[in-house]
Amino acid sequence: MSVLPDPAVLAGLDSFRDLDAKQQPTWPDAQALADVTATLSAVPPLVFAGEADNLRERLGAASRGEAFLLQGGDCAETFSELTADNIRDKIKTILQMAVILTYGASLPIVKMGRMAGQYAKPRSSDTETRDGLTLPAYRGDIINDFEFTESARIPDPRRLLDAYHNSATTLNLIRAFTQGGFADLRRVHEWNRGFMANRAYAQYDTFAAEIDRAIRFMHAAGADFEALRTVDFFSSHEGLLLDYERPLTRIDSRTGLPYDCSAHFLWIGERTRQLDGAHVDYFSRVRNPLGVKLGPTSTGDDALALMDKLNPDGEAGRLTFITRMGAGKVRDLLPGLVERVREDGRPVVWVCDPMHGNGFTSANGYKTRRFSDVIDEVRGFFEVHAGLGTVPGGLHVELTGSDVTEVLGGSEEIDDLALARRYETLVDPRLNHQQSLEMAFLVAEMLRGH
Ligand code: PEP
Ligand code: CO
Repeated sequence: MSVLPDPAVLAGLDSFRDLDAKQQPTWPDAQALADVTATLSAVPPLVFAGEADNLRERLGAASRGEAFLLQGGDCAETFSELTADNIRDKIKTILQMAVILTYGASLPIVKMGRMAGQYAKPRSSDTETRDGLTLPAYRGDIINDFEFTESARIPDPRRLLDAYHNSATTLNLIRAFTQGGFADLRRVHEWNRGFMANRAYAQYDTFAAEIDRAIRFMHAAGADFEALRTVDFFSSHEGLLLDYERPLTRIDSRTGLPYDCSAHFLWIGERTRQLDGAHVDYFSRVRNPLGVKLGPTSTGDDALALMDKLNPDGEAGRLTFITRMGAGKVRDLLPGLVERVREDGRPVVWVCDPMHGNGFTSANGYKTRRFSDVIDEVRGFFEVHAGLGTVPGGLHVELTGSDVTEVLGGSEEIDDLALARRYETLVDPRLNHQQSLEMAFLVAEMLRGH
């Protein structure tokens, strides 16, 4: 029997419309938008409420130090890069990292992609000017096109439908890859051996050999490798574009409660987390596990007020704080936040995003980050939590499975000039495949020391 929603709950889903929503496009054709949102409100959900509940429970475990979250993927997915190979390589990278982290943490790793819906981007300016021509900024493939022409930059609501269908395709492949034997622990470990064959990574040899022994031990002890052939893999994106999230929200027939069925996990970005803004209001009303990005200007009061709005009852796994302070600031700024939240007592999952506080422009004009800064911010994050006796619950990274050159450094020593070789991102620079695995080894060592 299905439970009907409380009329007040239903009405509440539209209260965000009276509030200020930052970072939304100006659609030129209101009727076209209305047609699209009507279509989207009738399509099948991309994820099920029960899956989101399952994720909330696992995140609850992460808040207690009984699991660790690994969330990774592109800064912005694009329609043109949606190929089977790209999706496979991203999943493969996350699975490879997860095996290394599992060993380091001796904990289950909750695997989550910034995938299957990461199509909307907040921008620092509404416009972009090149050679004297000013056009609307690129806001992600769900809104407009990156090409710098007037027609490409006009927001087009039909892109919401494209984003939905592309997310469905991506999720379909994710489910196939992670349930169909591709994710088999032994196979993933073989891939990591391939990585170790590169002499640049000799420093991680001992660690990899230990994992090897552990797997042989499990085999000898009769571990059920059949059960290790599949993994759960969750989808997530920034819940930015409310014209997409609202129509994809569905009432769960088991409970009568609303879930945003565009993804398992949604996070609110640093630029849209205003306490009285539309985003915080909207996501407070759906049952999915939620994240909020906290940058260097966040205060303890902000954190507590966000908890009051998004997780007033202190449900475990409901709220994740994704901190992105910058390597130079994390040791100074994070302790104050964590202490205030600890005093409050309601649980949160503390996750480190070592990417978004460490960007700068290289001398030759590329938006980049240093691998060493990224690692240093993670190190600072672990140090702060160790110092306070709180739980470091996960890692949020921008990565890709291919061999791009967007982030400086790593053992392969990508320098300023090398950035020009394969710089493909339309928005933020991503760790490439090798840098991602190297990061996993370094973080696994930190986890083990913790
Ligand atoms: C992002 O995750 O791509 C992003 C824009 O992050 P933030 O909201 O932390 O700036
Ligand atoms: Co980004």
